[in-house]
Amino acid sequence: MKSVVILISGRGSNMEAIVRAGLPAKIAGVVSNRADAAGLNFAAQAGVPAAVVDEREFPSREAFDAALAEAIDGHSPDLVALAGFMRVLGGDFVRHYSGRMVNIHPSLLPAFPGLHTHRRALQEGVKLHGCTVHFVTPQVDHGPIIAQVAVPVRTGDTEATLAARVLRQEHRVYPLAIRWFVEGRLAVENGIVHVDGSDARQALLAEE
Ligand code: GRF
Repeated sequence: MKSVVILISGRGSNMEAIVRAGLPAKIAGVVSNRADAAGLNFAAQAGVPAAVVDEREFPSREAFDAALAEAIDGHSPDLVALAGFMRVLGGDFVRHYSGRMVNIHPSLLPAFPGLHTHRRALQEGVKLHGCTVHFVTPQVDHGPIIAQVAVPVRTGDTEATLAARVLRQEHRVYPLAIRWFVEGRLAVENGIVHVDGSDARQALLAEE
């Protein structure tokens, strides 16, 4: 059975969705870069081993990245899943996990990389927003796209209402994409993700 390590920084609701999905994978551990991440409580309740690698305790990004990699590699995971991990990772770190690290981002990439995606989507007046699961590459929020869910913007939406509707879909699509990975159904060719051998199957799922 393949194993997964999940990295969090805060609430951890995506981590929770992945753990609760009952995937055919071992959730080997959770690592947080913050000791006060609320998601650590759920990990403890769920019996998932958790570790904190506090960025403030390291003199440089390289030193932090090395400690983080050590905490992850202690589990020898097949996959590392970033779930609200709010820290930009160095190029060497990212390359070490090339092809085996994924992230969820709350926009339809390549639109709105970075922070405050829901606010920016409303400011731009887009009619379709959503979320993306992608492989992680050194360029932030920019790797091969595994799956996306489109979420229509509704009249009267605020940043909070839109964020809540997108988050519901994140909890659906992230476990699905991880399932595809651990079942060995993903391949990347020239930056395009194929699911079960098909590039069309990298589903743009509709909101449920
Ligand atoms: C999610 O919206 C995720 O897409 C973004 O940060 C948020 C984390 O939420 N990267 P949670 O910690 O999973 O609840």
